[in-house]
Amino acid sequence: MERLLVIDFGGQYAHLIANRFRRLGFLTDITSSAGAFAEIKKGDVKGMIFSGGPASVYEKNAPVIAKKIFSLSIPIFGICYGEQLITHLLGGKVTKGSIKEYGIAEIDAKKSLLFNCLEKKQVVWMSHGDCVSKLPPGFSIIAESTDGIIAGIENEKKRIYGVQFHPEVVHTVNGMKVLENFAGKICNCKREWDSRNYAGEISDNIRRLAKGKKVFLLLSGGVDSVVLFTLLNKVLGKKRVFGLHVDTGFMRAGESRQVSQALQKLGMNNLTIVDASKKFMKSLKGMVNPEDKRKAIGDLFIEILAERTEELLSSGKWIIAQGTIYPDTIETKGTENADLIKTHHNRVLAMQQLIKQGKVIEPLSHLYKDEVRELGRVLGLPDSILRRHPFPGPGLAVRILCNDKEAEDVTGAERKVRAILEDSFVLPIKSVGVQGDCRTYMHPAAITSGKNWDELEKTSTDITNKVADVNRVLLLLRKKDGNLKLLKKTITRNRVELLRKADLLINDLIRKNGLYDKIWQAPVILAPLSVTGGESIILRPVDSQEAMTARFSRLPKPVLDEIANKLLGFKGIDAVFYDITNKPPGTIEWE
Ligand code: XMP
Repeated sequence: MERLLVIDFGGQYAHLIANRFRRLGFLTDITSSAGAFAEIKKGDVKGMIFSGGPASVYEKNAPVIAKKIFSLSIPIFGICYGEQLITHLLGGKVTKGSIKEYGIAEIDAKKSLLFNCLEKKQVVWMSHGDCVSKLPPGFSIIAESTDGIIAGIENEKKRIYGVQFHPEVVHTVNGMKVLENFAGKICNCKREWDSRNYAGEISDNIRRLAKGKKVFLLLSGGVDSVVLFTLLNKVLGKKRVFGLHVDTGFMRAGESRQVSQALQKLGMNNLTIVDASKKFMKSLKGMVNPEDKRKAIGDLFIEILAERTEELLSSGKWIIAQGTIYPDTIETKGTENADLIKTHHNRVLAMQQLIKQGKVIEPLSHLYKDEVRELGRVLGLPDSILRRHPFPGPGLAVRILCNDKEAEDVTGAERKVRAILEDSFVLPIKSVGVQGDCRTYMHPAAITSGKNWDELEKTSTDITNKVADVNRVLLLLRKKDGNLKLLKKTITRNRVELLRKADLLINDLIRKNGLYDKIWQAPVILAPLSVTGGESIILRPVDSQEAMTARFSRLPKPVLDEIANKLLGFKGIDAVFYDITNKPPGTIEWE
């Protein structure tokens, strides 16, 4: 079958590029730069895509590829780092951009096959620090951003193209058309792939990987693990499958009960629930650092799993299955050149060791959430399960910010933010972000007003692009009178209960107003920022398709007013913020 080849330079979206081309009907494989030539030798490669990456081309160990790749007469499309690498290798120049662009941007597209059938002005998604400053010989500019940055280059004769933006992410409005132009118009690749092949392919994989053994599944109750549990039951039969749901105490209100009831209703009663809430609370004692918290929780999952499975696993008759999907692996430094953004609970060191020993199977690990939902539909699962919002394994624990300092000096960052918008301040807390494919851990800025969502988005992007020590922007919805003060806090039962109560209220109001199916996920964060002894709540509803990129949701103002007013009526809540940060630069979760 004719195919395209993505060469992975460590970008967050390398796999997403392949996924997008496949959705368009073009068979697409991924390889590392070291494996590229062997892969090309196998034949049928009609075009190559150089992915983005966290590195800068001038870094000592930046991933490269042998220059002979350009003399194979196969069309090449470089995206972000991929474009910079083409430029660098072919004699152009790349420099650190004076303006860094993360998130939404606008470009002027010129006449090029790559932009066939597209208008001149295009809304695109950027995530970069470096950019092309001098073209390699034989190249011309095919796009420029409104900030004056070279956003696209081509050598039409040699069929080599490059763009600074990310056409593969859903927020690049006509990104799919750009990809289709490359595959169809430039590579002349045939559309021969059909994604409905997945169900059969994965079932075959399960049979092959299970090697006749029984399978033990850690079931969080989210869409991924439920789909996998259903599939395992169908492929291997109930007697060969055993599900374990661990109640960490950091679940949403009533969640563990709902999970088991839903599965019982579907005839899957091969599931056990363990209440490990006391152990989890103890494991986080005194901790404040997000990665420490994530690791402690992940390790405890393994410990509980080991308690239950040691005997089974040592018998050699059982293996473990996890419902890991692709974004869980890539953000945990899942490929050779990628940066660690956050350690997902099913990727802690102990689990990675079990994976290396061949004791774990992850049949969904190359899929995105929307593909898992599609698979669930093919399996006949009801919408009430498939449409549930994603919920992270470590649960509410990574939505309760902790802090061990009396105060944090943010005056420097605040001065820079105020130079952009007078009516603003910087909060002395931090959250995780992803910028230019790298992890950041920075302060959020807060603003108190904006004319409309468009203006708020523009201000938010402007601040995070220009102020290096700020990776998030919040809109203050309501606050009690007085100044915000930072509190010293770790995780306590009372804080978990307060957040669970706020989360329930917000989710109920989102459902009541018919918004649940319109948004991807609505994390609620508890932050140790106090006015009268209570804390602050931050709402983080986002729109996304696969969680690799996201745009903050634009909830109707009356709904936000109702949520904020009700929250301020809770004992222990002093202020309510709304997160108006896209991903990038801010990740969906805060920790
Ligand atoms: P971020 O915060 O990285 O989140 O933008 C992307 C998606 O992943 C979810 N998430 C997790 N899911 N285990 C999971 O199963 C984890 O440890 C984890 N951490 C984040 C997050 O809720 C979002 O949907």
